Amino acid sequence: MKHFISILDINSKDIEKLVNMSFYLKMNKRFNKNEKLLKDKNLVLIFEKPSTRTRLAFDFAAKELGMNTAVVDKTSSQLGRGEPLIDTFKVIERYADAVGIRTFKQKPLEEISKEIKIPIINALTDEEHPCQTIADLLTILEKKGKKNVKVAYLGDGNNVCNSLLVGCASLGIDIFVATPKGYGPNENYIKEAENRAKKTGSKVLITNDPIEAVKDADVIYTDVWVSMGEEGKEKEIFKPYQVNKELVKHAKKDFIFMHCLPAHRGEEVTKDIMDSLHSVVFDQAENRLHSHKAILLYVFSR
Ligand code: CP
Ligand code: NVA
Repeated sequence: MKHFISILDINSKDIEKLVNMSFYLKMNKRFNKNEKLLKDKNLVLIFEKPSTRTRLAFDFAAKELGMNTAVVDKTSSQLGRGEPLIDTFKVIERYADAVGIRTFKQKPLEEISKEIKIPIINALTDEEHPCQTIADLLTILEKKGKKNVKVAYLGDGNNVCNSLLVGCASLGIDIFVATPKGYGPNENYIKEAENRAKKTGSKVLITNDPIEAVKDADVIYTDVWVSMGEEGKEKEIFKPYQVNKELVKHAKKDFIFMHCLPAHRGEEVTKDIMDSLHSVVFDQAENRLHSHKAILLYVFSR
């Protein structure tokens, strides 16, 4: 068994395998529904933050593979009354074969994972969203292929950005990130992306200039300016990074627009771009379903 907690621990080869497997499972829906490769295994999903896509995609992906699922969320479980996460995990490992968790800090989760003998899947932390990245890479490959692709990420250098940075570099996709000063991706992820990019031949650029990032981009990606757990954060500083019709003029004419969702029209993206023919956000959301299956198979593989 394997954990799927940090993209830093999943090498480029495995990321590529996960994306290829997601594509295979998407193309062969009947195969995975009939084979039930994880029949009768139990999956528990812990949500300490809200979720629509991750929760549904995980749940249906698991069921299509033959698993049973149960959700533990903060409001209706003892987590909301202060039961420690480690105790919750120790109970769950007596009932279930794998756990998906959406939580706050990455570090405590990594500590917990050393004590837990069933696979743990990171369904988003403050630092990472690796499940999202596998679906994003699948979407990029489907829409743009693998060769000479440039992705521009704009806005807040958050969890989605950290994971995407390493994911793109792992597959040889150029990734240019533009954020305000002080809001860039975490140094560990930049370093790892640069190391992987050296091997795959892709470019990694971190800048404060949105036009430099978007210039000739094939993919424009953004995410919310205020992530879950950051309520009250100032938004003004992100305005130059809004994806709007002026900014996208610098991209390739056939660029695609991506967003992990939920989106805030009028903040990180204007309505005209979000709802345009360039936008692939719902294909991207669908790919969460296929990539969760690949991730579930991966954590149970040897
Ligand atoms: N993109 C994503 O993770 O969406 P949810 O927060 O709805 O799960
Ligand atoms: N960065 C966002 C992603 C939501 C899927 C957040 O953490 O809230």
